[in-house]
Amino acid sequence: MMFGDADCYPETSGSSPPAPGVLSKLVMASLASLRPFLLLRRHLCTTAAVSLLNPADPSTTAPPKSKSLAALSLLQSEKDPSRILSICCAAALCPDSHPDRAALSLAVSSLSAAGSLPSVRSLLDGLLSSPTSDHLRPHIIVLFGQAGMLHDAFRTFNASASPSIRSLNALLFSCILSKNYAQVARIFRDFPSSYGIIPNLNTYNTVIKAFCESDSSRTFYSILDEMVRMKIKPNLTTFSISLAGFYREERFDDVRRVLWLMKKHRCHPGLSVYNVRMQSLCKLKRATEAKELLKEMHLRRMKPNWVTYDHLILGFCFEGDLEEAKRFFTEMHRRGLAPESSCYFSLIYYLCKGGDFGAALEVCRKSMERNWVPRFSIMKMLVNGLVSISRVEEAREIIKKVKEKLSSNIEMWEEVEHGLPQ
Ligand SMILES: *[C@@H]1O[C@H](CO)[C@@H](O)[C@H](O)[C@H]1NC(C)=O
Ligand SMILES: *[C@@H]1O[C@H](CO)[C@@H](O)[C@H](O)[C@H]1NC(C)=O
Repeated sequence: MMFGDADCYPETSGSSPPAPGVLSKLVMASLASLRPFLLLRRHLCTTAAVSLLNPADPSTTAPPKSKSLAALSLLQSEKDPSRILSICCAAALCPDSHPDRAALSLAVSSLSAAGSLPSVRSLLDGLLSSPTSDHLRPHIIVLFGQAGMLHDAFRTFNASASPSIRSLNALLFSCILSKNYAQVARIFRDFPSSYGIIPNLNTYNTVIKAFCESDSSRTFYSILDEMVRMKIKPNLTTFSISLAGFYREERFDDVRRVLWLMKKHRCHPGLSVYNVRMQSLCKLKRATEAKELLKEMHLRRMKPNWVTYDHLILGFCFEGDLEEAKRFFTEMHRRGLAPESSCYFSLIYYLCKGGDFGAALEVCRKSMERNWVPRFSIMKMLVNGLVSISRVEEAREIIKKVKEKLSSNIEMWEEVEHGLPQ
């Protein structure tokens, strides 16, 4: 992700496999530890939140990590706006810590999904209410963008006496998050001179991303020219973003041209660039070409990582070539690499859809060994599938394991268990 400060905000480009239950690995964070806080602090929140935002002494002001994780875990199943606000408040979430940012991001998504924009406003404005909170402004701007509240993002930007470059970049990024691409061009043209801000590499990368995500990847060339004029050296992120854009628009000549420009600018494509290219090809259902790139990597003695394999596995699943997906899953393990939870979950999903329940069970066991439990709908597909091929005992065993690992959905599982053949 190219926006350095926003590394836990959602990717803007959607991918097709099913979204797994968010952060299920954190599900077991101790909820109990937060509940007393919730009761105790509900009424104290306003003052508590303000004092906790004071960054003077991080050891006393920053909430312990487990509290953010507990909040995150509660927020995952909470849909009620006022309870969401209480959780954020009780945990005194503050966007300058990474786990808190993930929790806030989730809270903002749920609040905006519930259509409760006033709650988003009161949550985020509250975080900026202390005089020492100006450094949080870029995060708040991004969170408003994530909620699709661009007007509030502008308001937050304007409220600063002298907006910083970080705030400007955050504003550009929130335009991308809220898919207001046209605004990016306007801000980029007008704001640096109106506010006396000099764009930096991050600004240019964000602007290029906006053009690439709105089917105008070819604008990249003129922006790159401007960067050269302004003596701002593009980095690998600059080129990766444009490569992804050109692939998305299926402009393969431009892909070649960017690869050539990279040489010219002495940016040598490393693993991350290969991964971006493979992911782009897989999204276009050209996984076989992605596999060719893997061969090219081997020839150049470059080591693929788990990201590389995740893309290939998902790519082949997406095209319905489950044999190839399984082959890469095995190869990956042989190389001592392990996939992300979403890769396990998608693979299980596609294997079930393809009727290969035995293989799906194997993958599911591996995933659960790492405490990653696929969401209910996928597990139910697997359980029903196992029953359909008369592997009822294994279906029972997997339900038992799920119930050991999860505290939620127990009733739903009991219902499934009762439905199993005796
Ligand atoms: C913020 O300031 C800009 C430039 O002065 C102005 O165009 C814009 O309307 C302002 N937006 C808000 C929401 O105040
Ligand atoms: C490129 O520069 C941006 C802005 O400084 C930075 O966030 C990003 O991590 C850099 N990319 C790489 C691959 O170093």
